[in-house]
Amino acid sequence: MTNFVGYHCSLCGKEYTPDQVTYTCPLDGGNLDVVLDYEHINQHYEIGDITSRTDYSLWRYLPLLPVEDPGGEGTTLRYAGWTPLYTLPLVQKKYGLKSFWMKDEGKNPTASFKDRASAVLVARALQIGAEVVVTASTGNAGAALAGMAAAVGQKAVIFAPKSAPPAKVAQLLIYGAQVILVDGSYDDAFDLTIQAANEFGWYCRNTGYNPFTAEGKKTAALEIWEQVLLGLEPDDAPLNIFVSVGDGNIISGVHKGFKDLQKLGWLKVMPRLFGIQSEGSAAVANAFRDKTETITPVSATTIADSISVDLPRDGVRAVRAATQTNGAYLTVKDDEIIAAIGELGKVGVFTEPAGATAYAGLKKAIETSVITGEDRVLVLNTGNGLKDVRAAMMAVKEAPVIAPNMDALKKHLGA
Ligand SMILES: Cc1ncc(COP(=O)(O)O)c(C=O)c1O
Repeated sequence: MTNFVGYHCSLCGKEYTPDQVTYTCPLDGGNLDVVLDYEHINQHYEIGDITSRTDYSLWRYLPLLPVEDPGGEGTTLRYAGWTPLYTLPLVQKKYGLKSFWMKDEGKNPTASFKDRASAVLVARALQIGAEVVVTASTGNAGAALAGMAAAVGQKAVIFAPKSAPPAKVAQLLIYGAQVILVDGSYDDAFDLTIQAANEFGWYCRNTGYNPFTAEGKKTAALEIWEQVLLGLEPDDAPLNIFVSVGDGNIISGVHKGFKDLQKLGWLKVMPRLFGIQSEGSAAVANAFRDKTETITPVSATTIADSISVDLPRDGVRAVRAATQTNGAYLTVKDDEIIAAIGELGKVGVFTEPAGATAYAGLKKAIETSVITGEDRVLVLNTGNGLKDVRAAMMAVKEAPVIAPNMDALKKHLGA
């Protein structure tokens, strides 16, 4: 028994029962919000019942999730979520920030934020008896689905653009997924995946298209609440959270988590959400700038492959995540993303380009006085740097090669 009672269309507001729909609103294609029985949760749980749970993974929030416990004890599926928070004193000092946290999603089992969505998706697939799970992916969502599915012996099919970084493709293959590289963009892969899922009866995880992805992603908000926000008082200034945005499903999922907590009366101060996009892939930021919820596709080109998206599939809710929380969207250049990778490396955090994008956005927010030293700031690092070593090498000088003797070393060191 879960507290899942239905869906609500984010565009037209129509309500559906759980068995009436699977993906998007049949009337207008709007993304569906999962609706929980908040009253029932309130009757059965207090904050302490959640925070005293001993499961240090996203499964500690099972009472707030629309899925049944998937089992899988002893597997990586049980280890998604509950990622560490670093305070990075060197960053605080450099920018004069009084309170700073970085939540390191690179610590998830397949090394990106996407494990949250995929773990919950795999649980849903088990519950509905789906034999095959499928997703389109720039790489991380696919690796996450392939990894989480492999953990419980589920079959996964992954469509990725052929330009995906080799480490991500290797991950897909190593986890035993059926991998199909598409000679086209992520958006092409996305559309093909939906067609294939319909034709072959596969359960489709496509980001934003499947309402359960945002439910998995909201667990990051639940953790931030438990790890940071529970200590704040109602009069305290809000936490400012920086999130890199591609399809817009991470930021909308994080927003959903905070909205769920608000509905339960468990959140005192709604955080401000800042979405960061690359200038070359800024469809959501453009809509925010133009004060519209109409998302106009772009022709995306950015070094940050994970957020290279022509038509964001969760764009409307992603815009609202900023407008409804008094947040904003900022864009950064690719060379600012590369510089952010190098800067974070020097304080001991290795990020992939999309992971560093949120940090590059914080730097811009500080430069433009959107954020000051007094503000509380949390940056999500959404992916580990080992995911894209080619991009990492752009942030550094190549290491020298010397002959294996002291003379050569001394010559090199100028000693
Ligand atoms: C590392 C990383 N960061 C950020 C994102 C952006 O997430 P979303 O597409 O939900 O906006 C992704 C998506 O693939 C990602 O893999």
